[in-house]
Amino acid sequence: MLKIVVCVSGGGTNLQAIIDGVREGSVTGIEIVRLISNNKKAYALERAAQAGIDSICVSPRDYTDRAQFNEAFVREVDAVTPDLIVLAGFLVVIPPELIRKYENRIINIHPSLIPSFCGTGYYGLKVHEAALKRGVKVTGATVHFVDEGTDTGPIIMQKAVNVMPGDTPEILQRRVMEEAEWIILPKSLNLIAQGKVKVSDGQVEIAE
Ligand code: GAR
Repeated sequence: MLKIVVCVSGGGTNLQAIIDGVREGSVTGIEIVRLISNNKKAYALERAAQAGIDSICVSPRDYTDRAQFNEAFVREVDAVTPDLIVLAGFLVVIPPELIRKYENRIINIHPSLIPSFCGTGYYGLKVHEAALKRGVKVTGATVHFVDEGTDTGPIIMQKAVNVMPGDTPEILQRRVMEEAEWIILPKSLNLIAQGKVKVSDGQVEIAE
């Protein structure tokens, strides 16, 4: 059983997709042992409570400097000795020491087809605003391992989504979630839990 910590800043619909996948049996071999949020008001905390998942809020606002926050964050992750950390809409920079410690054991979901519309400043609705502004006809979502760059780690899975005439950032965000994010995040987790995902030379290989 792969022990997973999920980190979420807001609504937690991706967290819910994982919870539902486990319940329905499409995701096997994982257990969510803790939810960490940086935001006391995140609805994700409510979702965790409803699913009986332990949760904790660790916010940079509650610490005098970044080093103290980083230390607390690493401590709260280590406390449950996870095998894998899932960033499911977590909008806080992860402590570099955590990334080194959990090399190839942290994954992130990003709401575009990396390398488009990613990197510093591209998160949440901003990603969809940028995609619409550029006029792309296809966008999507990406699940990738986290390295010390921003959205630069090895790509595990991607799924394309059509942009439609009249889309607003909110409408496009919802379509990308429904048609891509809520599918590829649980699927990637399932493959990792089945031992089918390997990283070599910065590339992901998925066993059949
Ligand atoms: C999701 O669209 C996720 O891809 C995005 O935040 C949203 C969280 O929604 N993440 C990023 O932009 C990371 N750069 P949720 O809380 O409902 O899952």
